[in-house]
Amino acid sequence: MGKVTVITSGKGGTGKSTVTAGLGAALVRRGNRVLTIDCDAGMRGIDLMLGVSGELVFDIADIVNGNCSPSSAIYPSKAVPELFVLPAPQNVRDIVSPYIMQKLIAVLRKYYDHILIDCPAGIGTGFESAVAAADQAVLVVNAEPLSVRSCDQVRAKLSGCGVEVKRLIINRFNERKFRRSGSFADLDAVIDKAGARLLGIVPEDNASAAAAQKGEPIEGRRKMVYALDRIAARLDGVNAPLEI
Ligand SMILES: Nc1ncnc2c1ncn2[C@@H]1O[C@H](COP(=O)(O)OP(=O)(O)OP(=O)(O)O)[C@@H](O)[C@H]1O
Ligand SMILES: [Mg+2]
Repeated sequence: MGKVTVITSGKGGTGKSTVTAGLGAALVRRGNRVLTIDCDAGMRGIDLMLGVSGELVFDIADIVNGNCSPSSAIYPSKAVPELFVLPAPQNVRDIVSPYIMQKLIAVLRKYYDHILIDCPAGIGTGFESAVAAADQAVLVVNAEPLSVRSCDQVRAKLSGCGVEVKRLIINRFNERKFRRSGSFADLDAVIDKAGARLLGIVPEDNASAAAAQKGEPIEGRRKMVYALDRIAARLDGVNAPLEI
């Protein structure tokens, strides 16, 4: 039975989709069978990042509406062979209900070691569906006051939806900018305020982020890949020490 992890954030644009795609690739490198599910209906992006946007015919709503079999809507990534993508519907009115998400993922998890769900920003439309079948949530924050503060609402809403295990990724971290901003005394203050156990820190890495935006692989000795490999190891239960 695969582990189902939803990637969330309060504030938008913290890097959820980039982390979902990159972490999926890192879990594949560890030999896992991995499915990414895009739940950001109307604003989907995982298909683009994983290089399948050109061939999309079906999405998750088509499975639910009986237009296709599940396997017809699951695409192998062009950027990362052996990583699979189940796209979000193009229209928010086609969001799949939380109940149906639970039923669908109960079946899909038999075929994968990890399912990563890319959640829309915030706790509005689509949140409950995205988290409905999750065993755990990862909150992706930037080390900025607004981003960190928004975790309070997300944590509360996750608990309301029955997702009790919450971990934290601090993304796009740039030590020089962090010190210069003076918003927090140190990273411990960020973690305390976010209120979740730290899973890892992903540095700011504009080259990798730009490659991901274009659906290009981000393999190689890049800062982001190194950090995501360590996070993937932790998700697999391996003791990879945190580097703060
Ligand atoms: N570690 C990083 N270093 C540099 N840039 C990054 C990093 N992570 C993400 N980005 C950039 O930040 C922007 C937002 O990333 P992304 O789309 O993944 O965020 P998101 O949380 O999914 O946004 P939304 O809330 O709109 O769904 C993109 O331009 C992306 O390339
Ligand atoms: Mg996104």
